[in-house]
Amino acid sequence: MREIFYRCEICGNIVALIKTGGGTLTCCDQEMEKLVANTVDASQEKHVPAVSINNGTIKVEVGSVLHPMVPEHYIEWIALVADDKIEIKYLKPGMEPKAEFEYHSDEEKVPYTDEDGEIPNCEGQPCNFMCPEEKAYNISIYEYCNLHGLWKTEI
Ligand SMILES: [Fe+2]
Repeated sequence: MREIFYRCEICGNIVALIKTGGGTLTCCDQEMEKLVANTVDASQEKHVPAVSINNGTIKVEVGSVLHPMVPEHYIEWIALVADDKIEIKYLKPGMEPKAEFEYHSDEEKVPYTDEDGEIPNCEGQPCNFMCPEEKAYNISIYEYCNLHGLWKTEI
């Protein structure tokens, strides 16, 4: 799925591109930086969103080992990005780095889960082991760490 988040390196504005027009996004008189997920050198376990799905409820935890939520270092938001919607849950220091989203697909595709309802992953990494041909939902779950930037899992 395309990356849709941009940040201004001068003022810190972050925007989500709702529709692609083709122009260049600028802020503070310079081009905004397109955020590419999972590219900052930091702990994968604490940043890649861990996802479980149950009856249309997508539960997200950041990450497979919970990320700190202190004022100096915390998860600012968690977002669900699908073909038909964007949903963002804002978090604050002291909260748990978790979010829930409701998602009902028109198509009756059921992702593989283990007996606990968990989608298998490899230490927090999206795992292509069970579904190499197609993704069950075509949804990206993003999170943004104030120090370590943008991370995502695709489901
Ligand atoms: Fe972090």
